Amino acid sequence: MKFLDLAKIRYSSRSYKDKAVEKEKLYKILEAARIAPSAANRQPWHFIVIEEKNTLKELCTTYQKDWLHSAPMIIVCCGDHDSVWIRNRDNKDHLDVDLSISIDHMTLQAAELDLATCWICLFDVEKTKQIFKLPDNIEPIALLPIGYPADIVDKNRHDAKRKTIEEIVHFEKW
Ligand SMILES: Cc1cc2nc3c(=O)[nH]c(=O)nc-3n(C[C@H](O)[C@H](O)[C@H](O)COP(=O)(O)O)c2cc1C
Repeated sequence: MKFLDLAKIRYSSRSYKDKAVEKEKLYKILEAARIAPSAANRQPWHFIVIEEKNTLKELCTTYQKDWLHSAPMIIVCCGDHDSVWIRNRDNKDHLDVDLSISIDHMTLQAAELDLATCWICLFDVEKTKQIFKLPDNIEPIALLPIGYPADIVDKNRHDAKRKTIEEIVHFEKW
């Protein structure tokens, strides 16, 4: 599949079939995260894969929307503040940037495998830390449900749902 076609078929699925994600597919998705670039190659990420029903149920309490219960698998994507690259000049911590790249690698790899995902950042971070007894340096950045989608989204939606090139690109000057 051509890259732009893959990028267009990826969408945020908010309804999943009651079907497990195959281990082989899971490992391809995790490999996509592993090879992602990161600032100074620090790779400040950890991924907690949840499939066990009771843990999924507990994790769903960190997010207010019922649809998350349909996900057969959720990956808790965590960043490590002790290993992240921080820019000296202004102390900018690049954890969100690094995690975003690895998470998006996973969403695209999942899409290529006919699986769907949805970035979730509107979750209760403190509760998630408690559930998994995360050390202080580990911050859950996003939840990533993965599964076979039960909803359908138009892969040509971007024409209507995204800003135009003219609106976002500046050539040579602001
Ligand atoms: C950083 C980030 C956080 C997001 N958080 C949520 C969320 O908490 N809940 C949700 O339903 N969707 C969330 N989304 C999904 C966006 O709403 C979605 O990507 C956007 O509307 C574009 O739709 P598409 O992904 O189907 O192309 C998030 C996406 C990103 C990139």
